[in-house]
Amino acid sequence: MTDVAARVRELLPSVRADLEDLVRIESVWADPARRPEVHRIAELTATLLSQAGFDDIQIVAEGGAPAVIARRPAPEGAPTVLLYAHHDVQPEGDATQWHSPPFEPTERDGRLYGRGTADDKAGIATHLAAIRAFGDELPVGVTVFVEGEEESGSPSLTALLAAHHDLLTADVIIIADSDNWAVDIPALTVSLRGLADCVVEVSTLDHGLHSGLWGGVVPDALSALVRLLATLHDDQGNVAVEGLYEAAAADVEFSDERVRADSGLLDGVQQIGSGPVVQRMWARPAITVIGIDTTPIAKASNTLVPSARAKVSMRVAPGGDAREHLAALTRHLQAHAPWGARVTVTPGDIGQPYAIDATGPVYEAARQAFRTAWGREPIDMGMGGSIPFIAEFAAAFPDAEILVTGVEDPGTQAHSINESLDLGVLERAAISEALFLKALGSDR
Ligand code: BES
Ligand code: MN
Ligand code: MN
Repeated sequence: MTDVAARVRELLPSVRADLEDLVRIESVWADPARRPEVHRIAELTATLLSQAGFDDIQIVAEGGAPAVIARRPAPEGAPTVLLYAHHDVQPEGDATQWHSPPFEPTERDGRLYGRGTADDKAGIATHLAAIRAFGDELPVGVTVFVEGEEESGSPSLTALLAAHHDLLTADVIIIADSDNWAVDIPALTVSLRGLADCVVEVSTLDHGLHSGLWGGVVPDALSALVRLLATLHDDQGNVAVEGLYEAAAADVEFSDERVRADSGLLDGVQQIGSGPVVQRMWARPAITVIGIDTTPIAKASNTLVPSARAKVSMRVAPGGDAREHLAALTRHLQAHAPWGARVTVTPGDIGQPYAIDATGPVYEAARQAFRTAWGREPIDMGMGGSIPFIAEFAAAFPDAEILVTGVEDPGTQAHSINESLDLGVLERAAISEALFLKALGSDR
């Protein structure tokens, strides 16, 4: 392999030490008490970039979390590449269920455990490794953009992109915040589902009633809500809402055994929906009920519940419009309440899906870099989850080519307890990125 790869390998221990310092900072923007930590990590990110040879560095904010923008100009005639990652993390959840402290990076069996080791402080580490491999001789212009509120839905990203549009303009954008197919098989993420959610409230009575006196005569709201929620799927588990969009997933085999192993499906429990796994996972809408407000069992008495609420979350296939999908879901909920029960739907969050046309020389150069670094053919992978800000980047920079890469793998457990990074994946991802930058720079 080339000397760039050897250089990344040499640098990796120091990059890993920097990653460990990043992980020790509890940068949970969603927790108001820990917002100062997000400011601290922005400072550290800026310092690390300064040590990597950037002198044009700013920490910026538009009413939200601090983001870091660092730039090194392009050599004559070379393109500019924007490298994205986020330095905020999800809350650690129940710390007692972690096998090592969530904010103390700990290595076990080739994996580095800790909140944000993968999602997405490893994205920062990957960019640092790729940049440092070139010393003073970067083959392309590089703008590093690390934001601090991705895990909160990037509410001020549109304002940041508008306020710093000229600084952030690039020919190629690498978003290092996604998954790989396996620890030894790389992937380019080529589509992501969108997101739309709402709260549906069902009411049948203006106050609770004795369930013996009135049961069997007037309906309780919880039974009505459960029946309404049941209309969202057919008996096989396919979504039964009219007017939703379905795309076509890439032709990739994802076995039923892998579904069972990767998801932890219990013995005897079946999958839902019909058709290939990747079609259901990446290219079709999905509806899930993610919470219910009603009388808790500890407080249950023989009383008919007068009203109850559920939060319904829908993923939107690439090509569909999240706003129109939310309207279709709302219409369905209003039309299907049993027994004339009253229904109120309160709209929630919206995030658009995104599909990338990953053809042409830039994507081919990326695939070649993956092949060299991993020794395996990369998979064009769809993604059932959402990164709503990608659609915003695409709208702000319509001429840029967007690559969605990442340092996660199926064992990462992002957002969950015992999140971890595979250290081999970090090495291969960093080498891939360095080789890709080199290819973009020599293509003049
Ligand atoms: N890095 C993830 C997205 C992701 C998840 C990529 C799993 C690959 C595998 C990102 O940080 C994330 O969590 N996104 C949120 C978006 C939400 C906060 C708007 C998601 O998908 O729920
Ligand atoms: Mn992420
Ligand atoms: Mn995340």
